[in-house]
Amino acid sequence: MDTEVPPIPSAPPVTVPEDAGWWRTAVIYQVYVRSFADGDGDGTGDLAGVRSRLGYLRDLGVDAIWFTPWYPSPLADGGYDVADYRDIDPRFGSLAEAELLIAEALALGIRTIVDIVPNHVSEQHEWFRSALQAGPGSPERERFWFHPGRGEDGAGIPTDWVSSFQGETWTRTVDADGRPGEWYLHLFTAQQPDLNWNHPDVRREPENILRFWFDRGVAGVRIDSAAMPVKDPALPSLPGEDAAPGTHPHIDRDELHEIYRGWRSVAEEYPGERVLVGEVWLEDAARFARYLRPDEMHTAFNFDFMTQPWSARAMRASIERTLAAHEPIGAPATWVLSNHDVTRPVTRYGRADSGFAFERKRFGTPTDLERGTRRARAAALLVAALPGSLYIYQGDELGLPEVELPREVLQDPMHFRSQGVDPGRDGCRVPLPWSGTASPYGFGGTPWLPQPGDWGGLTAEAQQRDPGSMLALYRSAIALRRDLSDFSDQSLTWLELGADVLAFRRGESTICVTNLSGSPIPVPAHREVLLSSAPTTGALEPDTTLWLAL
Ligand code: NOJ
Repeated sequence: MDTEVPPIPSAPPVTVPEDAGWWRTAVIYQVYVRSFADGDGDGTGDLAGVRSRLGYLRDLGVDAIWFTPWYPSPLADGGYDVADYRDIDPRFGSLAEAELLIAEALALGIRTIVDIVPNHVSEQHEWFRSALQAGPGSPERERFWFHPGRGEDGAGIPTDWVSSFQGETWTRTVDADGRPGEWYLHLFTAQQPDLNWNHPDVRREPENILRFWFDRGVAGVRIDSAAMPVKDPALPSLPGEDAAPGTHPHIDRDELHEIYRGWRSVAEEYPGERVLVGEVWLEDAARFARYLRPDEMHTAFNFDFMTQPWSARAMRASIERTLAAHEPIGAPATWVLSNHDVTRPVTRYGRADSGFAFERKRFGTPTDLERGTRRARAAALLVAALPGSLYIYQGDELGLPEVELPREVLQDPMHFRSQGVDPGRDGCRVPLPWSGTASPYGFGGTPWLPQPGDWGGLTAEAQQRDPGSMLALYRSAIALRRDLSDFSDQSLTWLELGADVLAFRRGESTICVTNLSGSPIPVPAHREVLLSSAPTTGALEPDTTLWLAL
């Protein structure tokens, strides 16, 4: 039965507010559109769904929403294969609806950040389609990395480069006469051809895309795979482990900085502090920090902290590394417990190996969800107390676990390219439970990935009624973090309460203490318990964080 879809009214003019440095301490909520809320009942989340839940995000207290790619896409990589950067995928809505959503969110005090994917496009992008059609030697092919194969018959792969998704990084084309042709480079799937950033069109286009979205009131961009776009045109072999920084043929090349300086200039053409947020996966803290120099990106995700195991030593070392790397350049740190690519915290912290690494993901890993949830609650208060900005991946505020989905429903290319060894990332992308006791739990239509049957207690509705819920904890932490004047001072002073305890003071009189040891410890002297991740009865229990006022 066709349901009448009401027309989308035009968006009112928007003004991005001028709060200086808003991004330095912001709480940014990541919406994976496909799985957030489904407004039209087709089982796929959409902008209508997000619009209907803006009140929930306002009540949670977030300052901004980062949308994973919402553009037209064949979804070969969950939308990170963009066919058109200036439109909205019809499954999600329309450009008019995005404009309305941006305005409605701003009216509630919530800014919008969009995802820009500069390393690659979809094979369905007009540039790639015309490159394939135009054939070898054409100017259209110069925007990509087309290359003849090695050997007499050209059947040898052009480089030994390694894909972030395992498997080959080159795919061979077929010429108009049906014969095997050139190869093209893709650091991810074959449906995501890499762009050639030495080409003037490729350099110019993203700056215009930024303007397109900034003109529509978007307050920032998250830059996908930000350390990867530039390649060494000589296509050399991969260097050894001890190669000098900046010499890798496709990671962290020095030329990238000039590109992001250009983007920063575009952002600064606009009022209201439009920000650049980098997805920069680099182990070397000093190289990472170079992306955050004052004329480049504003912030970048702190994956160093996100990958640490549940260990006071490891977490403290990471916090110290992070603060030390950011301090000299005056950039704020970011704190991230998860995102749409990694194992959900309640699951990860409930495992023997509680750190995160893509290559260690396996099916059937034993998990103690009760312990994981206790630790995820403690971790939420820990990161919310650290100086800098905070990212929350949708559903973490509900304490959702990673779902071990049956193999036959998996869609993530990481799973398939690992020959079925890696479960992939679908387990953290299962549609959210909003209400009710059975799937679809108020999500909308039959969800595109199946929801577990035992999520009735995890719905937003159930948790709204429960002052002890994960949702209640997140709401209180976000509200207090905004209200406590000690949190506006960005300094942090460590307190030494034992090797398995993380304790620090913010400002004059606010203390955050996390007990990562296996036994209760005394609660430090205080005037008032501001917030606690678990009930406290005299002692600070294991896997618990307290916020105390001195
Ligand atoms: C990083 C994104 O977060 C991930 O989801 C995507 O698969 C890759 N970049 C490729 O675009």
